[in-house]
Amino acid sequence: MLETRTVLNPLREGMRVARAPEPTSIVIFGATGDLARRKLVPALYNLADDNYLPPVYNIVGFARKPRTDEDMRAEYKKAVAEFSRQKIQDQVWDSFSQNIFYVQSNLDDVEGYKRLKRELERMDTERGTAGNRLFYLAVPPELMPQIIELLGQAELNHSAGYTRIILEKPFGRDLQSAVQLNHRLHQVFDESQIYRIDHYLGKEAVQNIFVFRFANGILEPIWNRTYINNIQITVAETVGVEQRGEYYDNSGALRDIIQNHALQLLAVTTMEPPAEFTPNDVRDEKAQVLRAIRPLNFEEIRQSTVRGQYGEGAIGGIRVAGYRTEPEVNPESATETYVAMKLHIDNWRWAGVPFYLRTGKHLPKRLTEIAIEFNLPPLMLFGKDGVNQMEPNSLVFNIQPDEGISLKFESKIPGQDNRIRPVNMDFRYTSSFGEAAPEAYERLLLDAMLGDPMLFTRYDEVEAQWAVITPILEAWKKIPPPAFPNYDAGTWGPKAADEFIQGDGRKWRRL
Ligand code: BG6
Repeated sequence: MLETRTVLNPLREGMRVARAPEPTSIVIFGATGDLARRKLVPALYNLADDNYLPPVYNIVGFARKPRTDEDMRAEYKKAVAEFSRQKIQDQVWDSFSQNIFYVQSNLDDVEGYKRLKRELERMDTERGTAGNRLFYLAVPPELMPQIIELLGQAELNHSAGYTRIILEKPFGRDLQSAVQLNHRLHQVFDESQIYRIDHYLGKEAVQNIFVFRFANGILEPIWNRTYINNIQITVAETVGVEQRGEYYDNSGALRDIIQNHALQLLAVTTMEPPAEFTPNDVRDEKAQVLRAIRPLNFEEIRQSTVRGQYGEGAIGGIRVAGYRTEPEVNPESATETYVAMKLHIDNWRWAGVPFYLRTGKHLPKRLTEIAIEFNLPPLMLFGKDGVNQMEPNSLVFNIQPDEGISLKFESKIPGQDNRIRPVNMDFRYTSSFGEAAPEAYERLLLDAMLGDPMLFTRYDEVEAQWAVITPILEAWKKIPPPAFPNYDAGTWGPKAADEFIQGDGRKWRRL
């Protein structure tokens, strides 16, 4: 039966018309897990609050633990109260929660999948969801292949409406396993049904890089090796591994951040302009530039990658434990919580420009940015006297937390002499637009419901990313790790990271 919804905010109702998905069932595998509670359900709630959800929808939890629909609703209410971007409102919650259901099953039991199918069909008829299905695999990577296979066996890979599958990261753990996973997926689903999440692409400030680069005429002529000296991408986190010790200890910073988020930031910054702003054209160009990243050889890996692991220290005045004493972490772990490295892109636009990437846990600040540093002017009219230190221009995309773009340039200090110093021209989302941006998962879930894969990574992108990372993982197995821990929590990473970039006559940006 179609439910009539109360429009809670007439202004937002107008927005819904522009991007209105069809009625659908969203099935969450791993419904009782951390991701569902922290990200997925709060994102769906916010979409409901903003009137972006279709008039009818079912959120169906599918997991092993015994639960009733009511249990699930109560559990998710707590999660939304804790993690939602917008404050939970009773009226919105009451209507939202009526759409939450639970199907209990072992994830390896095909009978459970068949039951799920019958349940979805019943909802299609009774609630009007028209056979549209979105499966969200919020489960550890080792469970994915089997779930995919059983979805196929239970014939849940097609339906009267659309069937789409969203896969949470990590997508494989090296090139070979990613290729295998793609192969398995393609046996059951068509690529057009597959949505691989990299939630960084759902961030507003990342999407704005497309607009900044391709909707403005002044940049294209200087966006290349002739004018750009180097690019630094930083993903700095204050958090440690939190409750994810087991996953993280098997993964490490290179797999957790560089392989996906940092390389996608790199791709969006360096890709060629697409012929049209369509999912295929944009992803073609990203895949192309990712394939042009030069794989590092053993010697380059030794010289151009730095690993770190935090020891105990303090973040914002609070003492925190060292990585090796975190829950579920091997006390002698050699897993890196920090990486710094240098890459090159072998194409006409970028030949010779170094790309410095760094990421770490328990650093002093949470900050993600892409900094483009330009060449100095050809003549130093002002720097000769030793009074003025000329600094290169830089353009910085602040991805988070303070989303914006800033351009640093030299300026005359007011006065009778010619002293100069750098100043910033700043654009900040909050001051220009006032509104807080939606969370990445809100955007991505809505896009998946609308069938827009532009902000999801295609199979060839993921494989190109692993082709860059896998040789590093393999070389690191052979090169003994540094004496870990080699940086204190709350500092900017190991000394070796500074020495490595100084070796190129450069330094990391001070954040
Ligand atoms: C996830 C990583 O993909 O991204 C986490 O697994 C990391 O380890 C997180 O903390 C960072 O995301 P955000 O959106 O907080 O920058």
